[in-house]
Amino acid sequence: VTEATEIRQQDAATLPWDWYTDPAVQALEVERIFRRSWHYVGHLGQLADAGDLLPGVAGGVPVLVCRDREGALRAFLNVCRHRGALLVEEPCQRASIQCPYHAWTYGLDGALRAAPRSADEPGFDREALGLVPLDVDAWGPFVFVHAGDDPEPLADALGDLPDVVAESGLDVDRLRFHARYRTVIQANWKIAIENYLECYHCAVNHPGLVQVLDERRYVLDVASRRLSQSAPPREEALRGEGPLDAGGTISQGQFHLLFPSFKFNVEPGRPNLSIGPLWPTAPDRCEGFLDYFFGEDVEPAWIEAMLAFDDQVGREDVHLVEAAQRGMANGLLGQGRLLLGSERLIASFQALVREALAGSVDARLVRP
Ligand code: FES
Ligand SMILES: [Fe+2]
Repeated sequence: VTEATEIRQQDAATLPWDWYTDPAVQALEVERIFRRSWHYVGHLGQLADAGDLLPGVAGGVPVLVCRDREGALRAFLNVCRHRGALLVEEPCQRASIQCPYHAWTYGLDGALRAAPRSADEPGFDREALGLVPLDVDAWGPFVFVHAGDDPEPLADALGDLPDVVAESGLDVDRLRFHARYRTVIQANWKIAIENYLECYHCAVNHPGLVQVLDERRYVLDVASRRLSQSAPPREEALRGEGPLDAGGTISQGQFHLLFPSFKFNVEPGRPNLSIGPLWPTAPDRCEGFLDYFFGEDVEPAWIEAMLAFDDQVGREDVHLVEAAQRGMANGLLGQGRLLLGSERLIASFQALVREALAGSVDARLVRP
């Protein structure tokens, strides 16, 4: 709890609630936070062979990752240089990238190879009309894209997360992809993330979760942009009672947020992982997904139980988050009050948001 003492008491005030409804603030967040971050888009299993194409979203823009003929990973803006159509909407494998609108065709290196009737067009500069390249990199099997200028190296952005995960006993290279679950939430992205960052609401709202994890024994930890919670399973769960059998090689639940919105979750029990991003699509709406991975030998029944457990907790959270959005949009009361013990990860998150927006919304940053 050492960092708690470093958090000044004034941080107990939440961000102004109009930051959760104002389109201008959302536009700034996209520009100054999301477009300056690496974003998880998928895993290497989806990019095993030449011509594998994986569309995604990074920094608010549609992106496309591909495995080229030489075996290298490449990423592009997933937008046709002709009239802006999305090039690829679902993962697929192709010898080239053909736009579905008017059939402009790009190589796996992004160069424009063919554009019907363009030979009749004076001054048509094919060379200048290749796909816009973006930065792509991987941590273990996890693929990240950066859609902004001059990205910091992915390893710097990840910080000590890979070490923390390795020390916990989870080997990310030995996990097998299971499924992706998408989500659309009618709330500002920050409300969804702030809800993720505290288990103060768990006793009241997650009867199943608190049978598995002891919400009073959550350990909170902040290291730069990594905001982490870990929790031991309850004795009953270790005996296999309750919604999830917590017996196995993973002795702790761990829930890491890498700012701004990359979630990395491990439940106690058998080797398991769910990871994924969340991004704003409107001031009061966000979207995201979680990719689930399990150890090779994990029994199907445990996987099924774990997915049902997570789905239940997830639905309970969506209700809370959407109701908070409707409350914060009241226009009469402008701010809330955090508990700097149980909610200090939220205070850290809000400090990172304030820092990112500083200079752009200075007038708004003055606390009442
Ligand atoms: S928009 Fe892609 S070919 Fe016309
Ligand atoms: Fe929750």
